[in-house]
Amino acid sequence: MNIRDIAALAGVSPATVSKVINNKDDSITEETRERVLRIVKEYNFKPFRKYIQNESTFSGFVGLLLPGSAKAFSDYIAGAQAAAAAEGYSMVLCTCQEERDLEKHLNNLFNRGVDGVSFYLDREVDFRRAFANAPEKLVRTAATNRRSLAGQCAAYCAFSDATRMAAEHLIRLGHREIALLGWKDHFLTEDLVAGYNEALYEHDILPREAVFLCDSPEDVMDHVRQITYGLSTAFLCQDAQIAACVYRVLSRYGLQIPKDYSVISISDHRAPLDVFEPDLTMVDVQLRALGQAAMESLILGIEGKGKAPETKCFAPRLWQGASVASPLKGRGRRIVVVGSMNMDVIIHMTHIPTSGESLHSQRILNLPGGKGANQAVGAAKLGGNAYVIGCLGGDQEGRLLYNSLVENGVSTAGVQIIHEKPTGKAYILVGENGESTIVRAHGANDELQPDVVRANEECFKDAEFCLISTEMPWKTVEYAINFCATKGIKTIVKPTIQTVIPPEILQKITYLVPNEKELEVQVPGSKSVEEKAEFLFNSGPQNVLVTLGEKGCYLHSKDLKRHFPAADFQAVDTTGAGDAFIGALAVYLSEGHDIVPSIQFATYAAGLSVTRDGVQPALADRMVLEIYSDKYNID
Ligand code: RIB
Repeated sequence: MNIRDIAALAGVSPATVSKVINNKDDSITEETRERVLRIVKEYNFKPFRKYIQNESTFSGFVGLLLPGSAKAFSDYIAGAQAAAAAEGYSMVLCTCQEERDLEKHLNNLFNRGVDGVSFYLDREVDFRRAFANAPEKLVRTAATNRRSLAGQCAAYCAFSDATRMAAEHLIRLGHREIALLGWKDHFLTEDLVAGYNEALYEHDILPREAVFLCDSPEDVMDHVRQITYGLSTAFLCQDAQIAACVYRVLSRYGLQIPKDYSVISISDHRAPLDVFEPDLTMVDVQLRALGQAAMESLILGIEGKGKAPETKCFAPRLWQGASVASPLKGRGRRIVVVGSMNMDVIIHMTHIPTSGESLHSQRILNLPGGKGANQAVGAAKLGGNAYVIGCLGGDQEGRLLYNSLVENGVSTAGVQIIHEKPTGKAYILVGENGESTIVRAHGANDELQPDVVRANEECFKDAEFCLISTEMPWKTVEYAINFCATKGIKTIVKPTIQTVIPPEILQKITYLVPNEKELEVQVPGSKSVEEKAEFLFNSGPQNVLVTLGEKGCYLHSKDLKRHFPAADFQAVDTTGAGDAFIGALAVYLSEGHDIVPSIQFATYAAGLSVTRDGVQPALADRMVLEIYSDKYNID
């Protein structure tokens, strides 16, 4: 390629090309100049040797100078490379292991005639000294992960914030024992550990010996094996390669993600990585974007297109996969839930229509529900050790419901898929005041027969509580209550308005939790709630706990007859508040708390659940509830 070829491609004379590349282009239009430069860059044309020494001309080369190994920077390099290529530059990569070699590497780049150097700052380096011999006009930009250096750089990503975000995500779901896995001698490892420590410190969690820095995948896998013998409930990985090692060891040991362990990784991938099953939850640290931004800024400087922009900051972003859930190794004993699972079709309208009325809905949502699934998810989100027994159809709805259980940390070994039936559905009309009316189609729930419970007796091993709602075949309700009574497992039973529970079954119930309408079905008549609760209590259950919506709840037990006020929250959708209440009650009781604080805890769980649409997505997690426990001095 010579100057004539360039001239032909640009449709100008060789003299014009010469003027442009030698900056003697006053007489040439901007458009022609741009066209010539584009082709010069594209073909990486170097007219003659002298040009390389001439600072005012360009070579079409840019330098990328990195500390440490190129492997650690692969995403960053890809971003820089893409930015250089997009502008027609070729990139020369130089890695510098020792700071004392910096000047030597820079010199190599100058001698190559690069138009500018984009470098990465991972520590305080005296670049002024290193650049002392560089041509004055050589353009330079930098990127960094160091907060203290961000001001001097074109681009900055807070890697420690990414790690903190990942650790906080786990903490919010109830994890306290989080193992950190990182690479030894990696330029980001210091930030990784710093972000992790910050998160633990902010949440008053004592750092244990849980930071493992590895030098190879084999080393990672050895550590993972050791960690599985200890207390940890979650792995925080420096990158997807480490996460892959964790997945591999856990699967080899028959341990499930996220049921047995949660896994979260720092990553530069904006979308889920297909190789992970279940999808890996990640915090995107945007290293690629960082490399790209620093290179773009360099090229802007080289081409004199405006002054250097302000430091571009890349904040980390959380990608929720399916590899993180509340820890099952929670504080309490096992809670088994036997009950229905529905896809809720929630239809919002101004008011619940009366007979013959035709109404328009402003919003229709499809969300996972069903009393059994709701109670299990409610318990698991609060850190309860929740197992569920129930039936789903082999359809898309069934898959969504199953995922919701898994993602929220419910053990699903007791879930049976009934391929020939559809998943149960509940059509829920919600008025503007949050009150709701439900029509159900049982579908696969009809198959929740005593045999299914019998086949899953393993789930009851070491169980303290069994939550049962009568929204399933009555034979199964009876079977589950009788089974628990013989095994000494306490039952929390939610009756529906369709069922009058006979005395021989009432006597075996530990906690009966009707709402006002359900109480009326059990004890019809004009007596007060207190009188009806007493009557019901005298028929057998050890505790009768009547939920009263915005009036709170009323407990009648052997030692206590007491009203509890409701938590004061604005209702958007009251559906499932009873399920939230029961799930939370079981969790707090299973942790050894007394009934009074457990009811207070459950009251806030129910209150929070009505503030959002649907049931399962609206159920509160542990951290939120604990804020209320502190604020209202529960227990
Ligand atoms: O308690 C609320 C639940 O009742 C809804 O999720 C719906 O599925 C119905 O079963």
